[in-house]
Amino acid sequence: MTPTVWTEMDDYICARLLPADPVLDAVLAASAKAGLPAIAVSAAQGRMLQLFARMIGARRILEIGTLGGYSTIFLARALPPDGRVVTLEADPHHAEVARANFHRAGITDTVDLRVGRAIDTLPQLQAEGQAPFDLVFIDADKPSNPDYLEWSLRLTRPGSVIVCDNVVREGRVTNAESTDANIIGVRRMFDLAGANPRLAGTAVQTVGAKGYDGFALLLVE
Ligand code: SAH
Ligand code: DHB
Ligand code: MG
Repeated sequence: MTPTVWTEMDDYICARLLPADPVLDAVLAASAKAGLPAIAVSAAQGRMLQLFARMIGARRILEIGTLGGYSTIFLARALPPDGRVVTLEADPHHAEVARANFHRAGITDTVDLRVGRAIDTLPQLQAEGQAPFDLVFIDADKPSNPDYLEWSLRLTRPGSVIVCDNVVREGRVTNAESTDANIIGVRRMFDLAGANPRLAGTAVQTVGAKGYDGFALLLVE
């Protein structure tokens, strides 16, 4: 459920602070037309990821969960000319749509799209010496969040930032009795992050065009 006022406020914010962007509009339209679920980050959230990347001067970014590449494009645009986003996607159809969208956005040389389950492609990145990444955006299957956090720690350095999406889920994450694998995955991620002395973290609850959710922000120390 997304109250009208949340969407109206998101529209207000984007109209004033985000440049008009026909390419991103076309990317969302192409993703919808191809039958992808409407679960990309909102424009305001994508912009926030982009600003995080710029604030830390990120040159190498890892994204787990590409979908149609909407968030990937925000991140790619934060990079210097020699920067790179590696983005991991399990679904070949999503990856195909994302590839066309990267072409639309003119970022094919900046993005390294790996098709396969992230639990298989993450070790490959390590073996290839792709680490360390300056920023990791975790946004794939939520039951695997604990694994993705562990891998993020292996693939980062002190000063790197890890952002994990959808960690509030309308407040259902507080339910310790939940049998929903998504909720259990998010709760394990919180427990791992909180218990790790290498991580300084918080989570911020958000409302907006994408409903009531939130993101975790973790700094590797
Ligand atoms: N980051 C995107 C949204 C990602 S939606 C954006 O904001 O624009 C989550 C994506 O994770 C989906 O495309 C789904 O196919 C993918 N996914 C699910 N399980 C996965 C897995 N095991 N490995 C890699 N990707 C996975
Ligand atoms: C879902 C996944 C997401 O990454 C998201 O931002 C919203 C919803 C989902 O699987 O329902
Ligand atoms: Mg998400």
